[in-house]
Amino acid sequence: MHQLRGRTYSGGGPEVELPRGDVTEGVVRVGDTVRRPHQPQSWAVAEYLDHLESVGFEGSPRFLGLDEQGRDVLTFLPGEVAGDPVPDWAMQDALLASLGGFVRRLHEASAGFVPTEPFPPQSVEQDPFELVAHLDITPQNTVVRDGAVVGVVDFDLASPSTRLIDSLNTAMHWVPLRHPDDLRHDVDQLARLRVFADAYGWTAEERAGLAEFAARRADLSYRRMKLRGETLGGGWARMWSEGVGDVIARRAAWLRAQSAAIGKALV
Ligand SMILES: Nc1ncnc2c1ncn2[C@@H]1O[C@H](COP(=O)(O)OP(=O)(O)OP(=O)(O)O)[C@@H](O)[C@H]1O
Ligand SMILES: [Mg+2]
Repeated sequence: MHQLRGRTYSGGGPEVELPRGDVTEGVVRVGDTVRRPHQPQSWAVAEYLDHLESVGFEGSPRFLGLDEQGRDVLTFLPGEVAGDPVPDWAMQDALLASLGGFVRRLHEASAGFVPTEPFPPQSVEQDPFELVAHLDITPQNTVVRDGAVVGVVDFDLASPSTRLIDSLNTAMHWVPLRHPDDLRHDVDQLARLRVFADAYGWTAEERAGLAEFAARRADLSYRRMKLRGETLGGGWARMWSEGVGDVIARRAAWLRAQSAAIGKALV
């Protein structure tokens, strides 16, 4: 592996637009690579991706270097990625179980990584540092093949954090944990939470405290989204003005109201 900063990639071809997320503009596919605008966190992310490669983890893109235009070049992971709204195929319990196992393996692969490149500070407050985690494992950032999760992309929010925070965040997106008024699919949320919990392997202690921990994380997420919406502009401002804060506040209230039921569903 070349030193991070000296690594360049040349090779071109037709540029194919990829489905847009909320924040990053200009993500395109060129052959079997993806080009993304170089960002402040890119070196830290690249070092993390190098680590995952070095331990033989196959479920993340490789950082190939910068192209002639100074964009990050990553390997394209073949498979299917859910769009927004999430299609029915992405809401199958079997896929959720596969996801739980995948996130567990990602955490095991991440555990030995000691970053030397600084990750940008998280907004509002810093998560405790147990390992570097992805922290944005949404359906739109997850690659699926033959009904199983095989990869994650879009490491823009990766940061020192904890296994529990990242796995809970993943469950939040995928179960999903949100107020029933905000659901787009007819799902049994508590049953799905149990599927994820068993597949990932939350401990008895983690399960017992999960609802309250999730509600507190939702409170923090509200403050982070508000601050980003007010200071970063772009997609962050748009999400905030479109009411993402209300959805998060309803989630926190729902988690607190369901606390006993969630505890019961997890044992
Ligand atoms: N390495 C990759 N392999 C396969 N598909 C990818 C890869 N990178 C991106 N994609 C596809 O392109 C889409 C957009 O890319 P990405 O998630 O990196 O950016 P984004 O969602 O636009 O960014 P943000 O979430 O910061 O707004 C993804 O949802 C996925 O479908
Ligand atoms: Mg994305």
